[in-house]
Amino acid sequence: MFQYQGKTALITGASSGIGKEFAKALAAKGMSVILVSRSEEALQKLATEITGLYPVQATVISADLSQPDATSRIVSAVTERDLSVDLLINNAGFMTHGHFEAIDPQRDHDEVMVNVAAVASLTHAFLPGMLNRKQGAVINVASVAGFQPIPFLAVYAASKAFVISFSIGLWEECRDRNVCVMALCPGTTATELFDRAVAPEAALGKPRTAADVVKTALAGLDRKRSLVVDGLKNSLLSHGPRLIPRWFAAQCAGKAVRPRKAKGIS
Ligand SMILES: NC(=O)c1ccc[n+]([C@@H]2O[C@H](COP(=O)([O-])OP(=O)(O)OC[C@H]3O[C@@H](n4cnc5c(N)ncnc54)[C@H](OP(=O)(O)O)[C@@H]3O)[C@@H](O)[C@H]2O)c1
Repeated sequence: MFQYQGKTALITGASSGIGKEFAKALAAKGMSVILVSRSEEALQKLATEITGLYPVQATVISADLSQPDATSRIVSAVTERDLSVDLLINNAGFMTHGHFEAIDPQRDHDEVMVNVAAVASLTHAFLPGMLNRKQGAVINVASVAGFQPIPFLAVYAASKAFVISFSIGLWEECRDRNVCVMALCPGTTATELFDRAVAPEAALGKPRTAADVVKTALAGLDRKRSLVVDGLKNSLLSHGPRLIPRWFAAQCAGKAVRPRKAKGIS
């Protein structure tokens, strides 16, 4: 079992959705939380809510993970406060949806910075401390979208494929040093993700809740899993792409998430 009580978790994308739910669930288990995202006001509100409910510390660090200096700014803020990170949750992420050529290239670049580069650099920043202490964990929030190429979500699906591969590779590197690195793959979950991307077509199936996803994640962490998929249906469907050619998987997925009308992207 992972030792939560008295430890500290750093959660990116804690201002809403799955990240916010992680913060509340971990505080309820006695963990202090470091809340990271761009929306300082929302993070402050959450910090106040958490410290009002539980005897833990809640620290707010406002950072834009699409910026190349974000990790060094976060590390400085953590060091200045004399905190150490026992559980890193790389959760912040967003999707671009639509015909690739219609998507703003800067937006796609930012997506790679947040969904991929920040995941690797924050892990570089905090994993060595865990390995030295011989305890800790990293949860990287990937997606079932990472199991196959997806037209109209091409950058998003590729970014999540990176997160899955990266996490399982590190899981094997770190597991005999009592540090677990786990990929968490939610399916459609009721959060702001699809609204922000103006991508209702990408939300397939009945959504699960952020609380479901966090429960699955923490159960997986307690079992030191390399990867967990949230929900039985998502779990069964995640095996599908391995059984058929990639091009066919892409064709099927493309039919499901094709934009209903031509559009740019928010
Ligand atoms: N919802 C789903 O169906 C679903 C399915 C599979 C995987 N996921 C993954 O779950 C994770 C959490 O998403 P969610 O569903 O909870 O969506 P959400 O409610 O939109 O939350 C996304 C979080 O990421 C943060 N974020 C976005 N861009 C950022 C940036 N440039 N710098 C710092 N923080 C940034 C947002 O905070 P600010 O706006 O305050 O910066 C927000 O806290 C994502 O990685 C997503 O890909 C979601």
